[in-house]
Amino acid sequence: MGSQIRVIAIDGPVAAGKTVVGLKLAERLGFQFLDTGVMYRAITWLALQQAVPMDDSHLLGELARLSPIDLKGHNGSQVVVSGREVSRELRDPDVERHVSLVAQVPQVRQALVMQQRRLAAAGKLVMVGRDIGTVVLPDAGLKVFMSASSEERARRRWQEMRQRGRDVEYQQVLKEIKERDYLDSHRSASPLVPARDARLLETEGLTEEQVVVLILGMIQEVCRGDG
Ligand code: CDP
Repeated sequence: MGSQIRVIAIDGPVAAGKTVVGLKLAERLGFQFLDTGVMYRAITWLALQQAVPMDDSHLLGELARLSPIDLKGHNGSQVVVSGREVSRELRDPDVERHVSLVAQVPQVRQALVMQQRRLAAAGKLVMVGRDIGTVVLPDAGLKVFMSASSEERARRRWQEMRQRGRDVEYQQVLKEIKERDYLDSHRSASPLVPARDARLLETEGLTEEQVVVLILGMIQEVCRGDG
């Protein structure tokens, strides 16, 4: 299945389930998987390390341009930037708080989108992010825009954080999710919006497996030509 589709673009707001679903889908289809969020997080981590001011677009852009990100291991789960393996650090609260500021810088986006397109040219893949269907891969064979209420997404993220051993209040998670969604949707460079030809997928109350099955159904529809 999916033989007529080479690239699947999945976009959506914070904690919509894009990564887990995208990964499962890629495994099911034998496709590569790329989570573009980790690239924005890696540049944010580097900027914080080097104390680059978050309002210095030029410096942030240079940092992204000159620091290619290496995605190693199974499905790019090990993220290497500037020679350091930073996969764990990418979930730091400090990175989480600043990533949407870095991601709004057009020069940063330009540098990362170039890398993302290069990776997509290599073969069949599922790519997840905020602007995949609108900007990075506008010709993707299937575009999905996943969403759920902020409360449900905050619950999911809060549970993830607690499983990782972070002692954090649900209300705080909800507040930060809303702030990040606001910044991502209101920036002028590649704001978070569904592509005109994206299929909207409301995931409220659904399990990850149910969402994967729904997307597999969409692939079948596209392949049959009735999508
Ligand atoms: O996993 P979560 O939904 O929390 O976020 P993520 O996918 O890791 O993305 C982190 C941040 O990177 C987002 O809030 C956006 O600000 C930015 N991002 C973006 O602007 N464009 C993308 N294609 C992917 C992420």
